[in-house]
Amino acid sequence: MTGQPIPVIIDCDTGVDDALALLFAVRHPGLDLRAVTCVAGNTDVDGVVRNTLTVLEQAGAGDVPVARGAERPLIEAARSARHVHGADGMGDLGLPAPARRPVDADAVTLLRREILASPRPVTLIPTAPLTNIALLLRTHPEVTWNIERIVFMGGAVATGNATPVAEFNVWHDPEAAAVLLTAGVPITMYGLDVFQRVVVPGAQVRRLRASAEPGARLAGELLAHRPAAPDPDRDAPDGDALDGGDSDGGLGDAGAVCAVADPEGLTTRLLPVEVSLAPGPTRGQTIVDRRARPGEAEIHGGHREQAMVDVGLDVDVARYVKLYLDTVERR
Ligand code: BDR
Ligand code: CA
Repeated sequence: MTGQPIPVIIDCDTGVDDALALLFAVRHPGLDLRAVTCVAGNTDVDGVVRNTLTVLEQAGAGDVPVARGAERPLIEAARSARHVHGADGMGDLGLPAPARRPVDADAVTLLRREILASPRPVTLIPTAPLTNIALLLRTHPEVTWNIERIVFMGGAVATGNATPVAEFNVWHDPEAAAVLLTAGVPITMYGLDVFQRVVVPGAQVRRLRASAEPGARLAGELLAHRPAAPDPDRDAPDGDALDGGDSDGGLGDAGAVCAVADPEGLTTRLLPVEVSLAPGPTRGQTIVDRRARPGEAEIHGGHREQAMVDVGLDVDVARYVKLYLDTVERR
C-alpha cells in the first residue's frame, strides 16, 4: 500500500453481507472508515442500527460514529429482506446487543458533517437502498465538492433479484437511486453481475469459522449464511453442502468495498444508466445502454441527457477473495 488511507463512509442496511463489508473496511489499512450511516432495507432501520453497532464492536471498531437514517423509502413503504437475512436481519447468529448507541444526529447530518470535515475527499460506499444518499444530495448539495466518488452496490446489467430485472437496493427506492445517478460526481455501479460472482470457497469459510479471533470468526459465520446465488444454468446444488461441509459464501456487499481498496480487480466501462421509475414490471430496473451506436429512438427522438456511470462488467474473483481473507484475518 502506498500513500494515505482513503477516507470512506459506508451507508448500509446491515444485513449479513453489509456486515462482511464493515468487517473488511475496518481492517483494511488502505481505508479510513470515518462513519457508518444506516437505512431501512434488509430489515427495519432500528434493526440495522443495532446490527451495525454490534458488528463494529465485534470487529474492534467501537469508536466509528454510526447514525440512524431513513426508516422508509422516499415514496413507497419499506419491504424487508428478512427471508434472506434472518429475523434479526443479520443471520440470527445470537450476537450480543451493542454496548453503545448511535450518535445524537440523523444520518444526513452525520454524512454532511463527516464529508465536509474530511481533510481529503471522501469515497461514499452505499450498500443499501439509496434513500439517505438522495436526501443528503437534495438537502446539502454542497457536499459534492468533498466527495471523490460514489461506489454503490446496486442495480444489474442483466438479471435482477427483487424482480426479474430489478436489483433489491434500487428496487427498494428507485426514485432515490435516480437522484444518486445525477449527483454530479464520478459513480461506480457494483451491480449484481459482479456482486454474485465473488464467492469464498467452503474450505476457507470453515477455516474462518474455526478462528480464535472474534472478527475473523464472525466473518466465517456470516459467510456460512450467504450461500452462493444459484447459477440459473446449472441444475444440481453445489457439492460442498451435500458433503456436509461448509458451503461456499458470497462476499456480496463486501465486494464493493474491495473495489474501493483495489480498483484494479474490477473491470468497468463508462456507460449511460437510467433507472426505470415506471409502475409495473420494469420498476427499479437499471437500464444500461451497451449499444455500439444510437438506435432509431435517438435518430427520431433526439438526444436525451443520461447519467454516465462506470459500470462493473467483470471482476477478478480470486483476487478479491484473497484480498478479503488476507484483510479480515490480519491482526
Ligand atoms: C443487495 O440487497 C441486500 O439484500 C444485500 O445486502 C445487498 O446490498 C443485493 O441485492
Ligand atoms: Ca446491503
